[in-house]
This record gives sequence, C-alpha cells and structure tokens, in this order.
Amino acid sequence: MSSVIRLPGLIDVHVHLRDPGQTDKEDLLTGTQAALAGGFTTVCDMPNNLNPIMQVDRLIEKRAIAEAKTVADIGFHYGSLGDNIDTFTEAAKYSVGLKLYLNHTTGGYTLDVAHLKRIYEAWPREKVVLLHTEEDTIDLAIASLEGLNRPVHVCHMPSRYVLEKIIEAKAKGIPVTCGVTPHHLFLTAVDAKKLGVYGQMKPPLKSQEDVDFLWSHLDDIDIIESDHAPHTKQQKEEGAFGVPNLETTLPLLLKARAEGKISLEQIIDKCHTKPAQLFNLPTDDSTHVEVTMKPYVINSNDLYTKCGWSPFDGWEVPGQVTKVVLHGKIVYKDGQVVAQPGTGDVVA
Ligand code: NCD
Ligand code: ZN
Ligand code: ZN
Repeated sequence: MSSVIRLPGLIDVHVHLRDPGQTDKEDLLTGTQAALAGGFTTVCDMPNNLNPIMQVDRLIEKRAIAEAKTVADIGFHYGSLGDNIDTFTEAAKYSVGLKLYLNHTTGGYTLDVAHLKRIYEAWPREKVVLLHTEEDTIDLAIASLEGLNRPVHVCHMPSRYVLEKIIEAKAKGIPVTCGVTPHHLFLTAVDAKKLGVYGQMKPPLKSQEDVDFLWSHLDDIDIIESDHAPHTKQQKEEGAFGVPNLETTLPLLLKARAEGKISLEQIIDKCHTKPAQLFNLPTDDSTHVEVTMKPYVINSNDLYTKCGWSPFDGWEVPGQVTKVVLHGKIVYKDGQVVAQPGTGDVVA
C-alpha cells in the first residue's frame, strides 16, 4: 500500500491569478482550485493586474471578487510606482505586503528607484516590502536598505550571484529575506532552449552551476514561492513571461526529497512556517493536506490552471495531493476540488 503523508496547509506568497482584467489566463476561482490541488491553502496574489492594484478601490474590488470566488485563503499585495504614497496607510490595512518591480516584467510597472526611499519611509514597517530584482538591480536594492532596518523580501531569487549578495547583506544585519521558485530549482538555461517560448520567465533560467549552488545553500533561502504566472499558449507564443506552478511545486519538491536534496521538515519550513512568520499570515490547526506517495506523471490536461500547459509536463513525481481540509472542511478529495466558490477567507 502507498503511504500517506500529512502536512500543514502550505502557503504560497507569490502568485499571479490575473483577476480582474485577464481572466482568459486565470481567475480567482481556477487559481485557488489549482492552489488546493497543489496543497496550498493560502496564496498571496500580486498587484500586476491589467489595471494594477495601486489604488485602494482596486484592492477593495479584488477582495470582493475573491470573497465570491476563492476556494483557498487568499491575501493581496499592493503595488506602487511612487505616485500613490498617500494611499499607503489605508492600503496596508487590506494588504499583506507591498510589491515593487525594479526590472521590466509582465505589466511593465517598473519603479524609478529614485522613489525607493520615500516608499520605504511611508509603507508600514510591520508589512513586508517585496522586490522583483535581478542581477543588474540587486546591488542598488541592497544599497537602498543600508541603515534603514526595513524588512524586505527578494522574490524569485534565481542565481548564485543574487544569493551571494543576499548572504552578504544578511551577514551585515540587513533584514532581507529571499524566496526561490520551483523553475529556478528544477530547470536550467538548457531546458529553456528546449522549452522555447514556454521556458521564458523573469528572471530567466540560469546555468546548472547556479541551480547546484541554490540546492547546496537551501539554508540561506528563507522560503519557496511558486511565482505561478499563467499565460495562454497563444500569449506565450507572442512572448509573455512566466510559467504556471501551483499544482507542480509540491510534487517536484517530493521528487527532490526522494533524491535526498531536501527533507520533509525543510519543505514544511519553507512552504508553511516561514511564509506565515515573515508575512504575518494566519495558520489553523484544522487545516491540513494529505499526500499519497504513489508515482505519477504530470499531465497538463489534468491541471486546474486555466492556461492549459506546464513546463513540467511529462515529469514523473513520487506523490500527489489526495486530500485537503480547510478550516475543518474537506475542500479537495481524490483529484477533485469539492469546495464551493467563496469557501476561502480573505486574509489581512
Ligand atoms: C510574472 C507575470 O507574468 O506576472 N512573470 C514572470 O515571468 N515571473 C511577473 C513577475 O513575477 O515578474
Ligand atoms: Zn517578478
Ligand atoms: Zn511574480
């Protein structure tokens, strides 16, 4: 008989569920169904919607859509280009963190770094600032934090270069944390070539040496975040950046566990305990996930995500989520989401 592993509800602080505005890619129902199917009972959604979440009324509108549609718990990050600082106090009441883009990515909401200082002063210290940085912006990102005691989280840290900068900053006492995505742990630039447009994301995939460095420095990486970034196949053909991940993150981590690269304790720490701590998210003893250890092959056609493809299609993984209980209620069982839209809580 195959064994069953019980985990606390996993938390993914970095997803793009595209609702409102781009519900051809994903929406708050399909995105949270995908979350449950992947063992995530809380997700935090990014602000780079078609109309970005940089005004309080947009945040409130998105929360209302979530109240009606979500089947998992969900929180929202706010955004800024430096021109909405007067809204921060109000916006922070309804958001988990503030996301700033220091490089070009989907939506094109790149911040002029001249605004960073004023943003850091105005955003409440108890709510984390999240940064999209890459090799060319990590130095200025860290320099901007010197002497401030401002907690900042570096998203989707992709490479040895960026991780070494973060290790240095931590050693200096700067309160910086970082997350890594499944694609930066499991794919390289060689895979990107094979995957073509489906291997394109920000930051781009790096070398095997980078990937090996990340695995050998897992203790320096605070959390695993999926950066679930669905786009339709046609949009990928037209050059969109990003890959879906919610349903494949945990199965891939179980594969890494079977290969001795990560322990179950580390998976729980980086996908539950630390994200809850760093982003001040509620956890609940009556929420848990059951994984059945029985090998299967990832098939894009079986996924809840609307985008209909996965860079991990065809990968064999050793286990699969078979049951999810959210606040005492069964919400996912034997491959099916059984929760009704509106079951999840909007957090923060
Ligand atoms: C993300 C998206 O599509 O929203 N794309 C990506 O390649 N990671 C944006 C982001 O996280 O940079
Ligand atoms: Zn990003
Ligand atoms: Zn992202």
